[in-house]
Amino acid sequence: MSDDKVYIFDTTLRDGEQSAGIGFTIDDKLQIARQLAKLNVDIIEAGFPASSPGDREAVAAIAREVKGPVIAGLARAHFDDVDHAWEAVRGAETPRIHIFISSSDIHLAQQLRKNKEDVIEMARAAVSRAAGYTSDVEFSPMDATRSDPEFVFQIVQAAIEEGATTINIPDTVGYAIPEEFEALIRSITERVPDIHKARISVHCQNDLGMATANSLAGILGGARQVEGTINGIGERAGNASLEEVIMAIRTRPDFMHVHTDANTRELYPASRLVERLSGMAVQPHKAIIGKNAFRHSSGIHQDGVLKMRETYEIMDPATIGIPSGSNIVLTKVSGRHGLRARLGELGASPDDAEFERVYNAFKDVADAKDEVDDRDLMAILSEQTQIQVDEAWTLDLVQVSSSNHGSPTATVRLTGPDDDLYEDAAIGTGPVDAIYRAINRVTQVENELTEFSVKAVTEGIDAQGEVTIRIEAHGQTFQGRAADTDILVASARAYLHALNRSIQAAPEAPNAVPITAPAG
Ligand code: KIV
Repeated sequence: MSDDKVYIFDTTLRDGEQSAGIGFTIDDKLQIARQLAKLNVDIIEAGFPASSPGDREAVAAIAREVKGPVIAGLARAHFDDVDHAWEAVRGAETPRIHIFISSSDIHLAQQLRKNKEDVIEMARAAVSRAAGYTSDVEFSPMDATRSDPEFVFQIVQAAIEEGATTINIPDTVGYAIPEEFEALIRSITERVPDIHKARISVHCQNDLGMATANSLAGILGGARQVEGTINGIGERAGNASLEEVIMAIRTRPDFMHVHTDANTRELYPASRLVERLSGMAVQPHKAIIGKNAFRHSSGIHQDGVLKMRETYEIMDPATIGIPSGSNIVLTKVSGRHGLRARLGELGASPDDAEFERVYNAFKDVADAKDEVDDRDLMAILSEQTQIQVDEAWTLDLVQVSSSNHGSPTATVRLTGPDDDLYEDAAIGTGPVDAIYRAINRVTQVENELTEFSVKAVTEGIDAQGEVTIRIEAHGQTFQGRAADTDILVASARAYLHALNRSIQAAPEAPNAVPITAPAG
């Protein structure tokens, strides 16, 4: 199987979610999967169904609801995993089961504690079971680039004999060098007798910063599927960034001689969505979608670009979906129509309820600032399109007293799930700590704050501060985000978003009932 189309396999929801600190909700995953369908990726790896009931549910929901791409579920080479994966993906238009088992000596000896024959048998058995469920089966020899190539040839041939139709070669620890990886892929096309029955895929991690280069080298060696994630998120240093791979293929057809079916104009919206739902900020100089990727600072470059864009730009930002600036200026006198139009230009289409919340929040920010720019809007959108919880605590009042002597004290008044007001106060090591302690006294949700970050959304003294926090509660991670021109208010709201999510995930949590009396 060899033509000039490279299939795009997105694993943002599986390997991407393995990034330390990311925990998508089912709703987040559905939003991302819908955007990936708009981007027209060929395959969405929606999760690892055997890993948790939540992941099974998310994969099944995506399989049911997201049409177009193949929906894949990951499985170890165990029958239970394969069965879970099948149960989760079977509702998809085109379901795929993706099986992996390690092939390197170090993994076999130290992790699996199995010999090569046993591993080949496990791979055969798992692939054969999956092939009994679906004709679309992918097989990956994990840590292939540190494996004995002869063993990789053998295990890949065995997987194809049992029915694998995609053979994925992972550079699991990001160890490969492009020329070497290209040679490995080429040797697979030459040394595996039945390789013509399968499509070769590559899955490159970024530990040495070469994930994109290795993916492209894999294509040159004969691969026709590339796995990666939006914004390059993923285990450790992340995966190949799909936006980089897709735009490299599009920008250099003269060299690559392949194409993808990706709708590149959806790359920027996809990147922004993943950034906001993952809470993992994109570095400004990130290729393709970073804030600075199309900004020119030096006089010589500015002069060139003003004369002709192509003097210093190899891609047209419009083809990536980067908004070109707008003639709609949003201020406190702007109306719903202008706001909706601008959101549309930014690739956002909130539903009616979300739009009302965005509009109200926009009005609050517009009251505090002369002009609400795109970055303000994205911060508002990020907060207001977070999953909404029915039985939620909301902020009615936060008041903090802080000085260079003595302990900061915070008073909070919250509207409870029963619509009554609850009030309490606490002292803390700092104003945010005091607020969180006061909120804890009211909500009584046991949790640990594991991450707190605040960044200015725009320049200037009237900038909004965007707060992102993560908490751990009943063994799960929950994220909350909020933006406000007052960072203490944003901190309180972000915390409540995370707490509400944790309450929704475990409504039976013993401490989820207020102990303080209603204040009003
Ligand atoms: O990095 C890796 O080896 C993987 C496989 C499961 C494809 O993620």
